[in-house]
Amino acid sequence: MAKSERRRQIEGMVLYPIDWLEERSGLVGGVKYFLFRKVPGDLGWAHTLGSATLTAFLVQAITGVILAMFYKPSPDEAYESIQHITNDVDFGWLVRGMHRWGASVFIILLFFHMARVFLYGAYKYPRELNWIVGVFLLILGMFEGFTGYLLPYDQTAYWATVVGMNITGNGPFVGTVLAQIMQGGPAIGSDSLSRFYSLHMLVAPGAIFALIGLHLYLVIRLGVSSPPWSKEAAGAEHIEPEPTKPARSGLVTPTMRGRPTP
Ligand code: HEM
Repeated sequence: MAKSERRRQIEGMVLYPIDWLEERSGLVGGVKYFLFRKVPGDLGWAHTLGSATLTAFLVQAITGVILAMFYKPSPDEAYESIQHITNDVDFGWLVRGMHRWGASVFIILLFFHMARVFLYGAYKYPRELNWIVGVFLLILGMFEGFTGYLLPYDQTAYWATVVGMNITGNGPFVGTVLAQIMQGGPAIGSDSLSRFYSLHMLVAPGAIFALIGLHLYLVIRLGVSSPPWSKEAAGAEHIEPEPTKPARSGLVTPTMRGRPTP
């Protein structure tokens, strides 16, 4: 059926900006490749854990930006500003709750995703580099948790950080220097809070975003691996079924001992 003039106009209007962008950047082709690339046919739910971790991280990034609009990183105001977010700001309790509980969800999913990769042997050639990138993501993810814990600046936050800094300071080689840089003085105080805040909302998330970009580039470049038991990956659909052997005659027609089988 011929397209109506109106329909052709609407199609032209929709396609014009897409074609414009594609001609100048190739981005549309890239997105199409990402969405329609081939993945093994026998993937299961365990393969969604990486994307689930990514979703949890994005929730942390969005809720964190909203919290940063109200949070005040000074020892005199930090606790009050968190109380203000929780009790006075519209939906502040929800955003803070999502960020606080989401932090645990992110770490749990991170470990589940890593366990899936380990148990499926998906870290083996040629994906070793992606495992190494993942190790840095794991370290940075836990660093996010540690630096964020001080920010409410209540008793739990303060003393948990004292313990954490003592552990860091006793670390081999770089431990003392790292603890000094992070603490910014002889005791945990306003300098430590500013440093923890900067590390928590700028340095660590920036590094995580960059590493996730590299991680996903490698996933797309190398392709997702099949489960270890995959018949598809073993090429089962190309193997001809073995012809069934005829039963051994001796079992079917018994003969007397010493006589040759017919
Ligand atoms: C912020 C943290 C992370 C995010 C957002 C993330 C995201 C993803 C995604 C979306 C995939 C593809 C789908 C899948 O296999 O689930 C993937 C694959 C992979 N990830 Fe992660 N990941 C993270 C952390 C880690 C960690 C901690 C490790 C290991 C130490 C790791 C190692 C791998 C490997 C080796 C693959 C390739 C698996 C395959 O091809 O089957 N990732 N990741």
